[in-house]
Amino acid sequence: MVDNEINLAGISKDNKVLHIGCGSIPASSILLAKKSGNQVTGIDIDARSVNQAKLCVLKSGVSDKVQIIKADAKNFSIDKFDIIIISQGIKKYKNVLEHIAKSMKSDAQVIFRSSSLPGGDLTKNDLFLKDLFKVVKIVSQKKNALLISVLLNKKSKLKTN
Ligand SMILES: C[S@@+](CC[C@H](N)C(=O)[O-])C[C@H]1O[C@@H](n2cnc3c(N)ncnc32)[C@H](O)[C@@H]1O
Repeated sequence: MVDNEINLAGISKDNKVLHIGCGSIPASSILLAKKSGNQVTGIDIDARSVNQAKLCVLKSGVSDKVQIIKADAKNFSIDKFDIIIISQGIKKYKNVLEHIAKSMKSDAQVIFRSSSLPGGDLTKNDLFLKDLFKVVKIVSQKKNALLISVLLNKKSKLKTN
């Protein structure tokens, strides 16, 4: 998944990456730091997961590259990041995505992980993404075709209700 996403967003070494919902085993954050040498900030709303994730980073030897912070994505400051990866299972993810669409840098790229319809299209639940972002590309994962990474760019004019 991480390899696919590096290609999908053209992630380069200098890109500052934010991983939202890194969980107790922040595999994506650690792999990105190891594979591309990125500075990665992983955030999670759950204190226990954050403590475990910090230990995991320490054991993986990437403490100089990966920072783990306890935070709620819906009010975390995101304007310094080039790449924002959003895990599945984020609480109130529509609010989180609205916050990102409003405050992301104009050239930042967002990767939203979700489940697709059998043909690989967005489900009804995720169609709101088209109001908030420019949907650039959707890639399915090799081992589970229903698991998709959606590449989103900032929309020039945001549609708000
Ligand atoms: C499915 S798990 C992530 C698993 C995995 N390590 C990954 O890379 O995809 C989702 C995580 O998101 C966290 N989370 C849920 N809502 C959040 C929010 N609003 N802000 C930050 N983290 C959140 C949960 O605590 C949970 O650890």
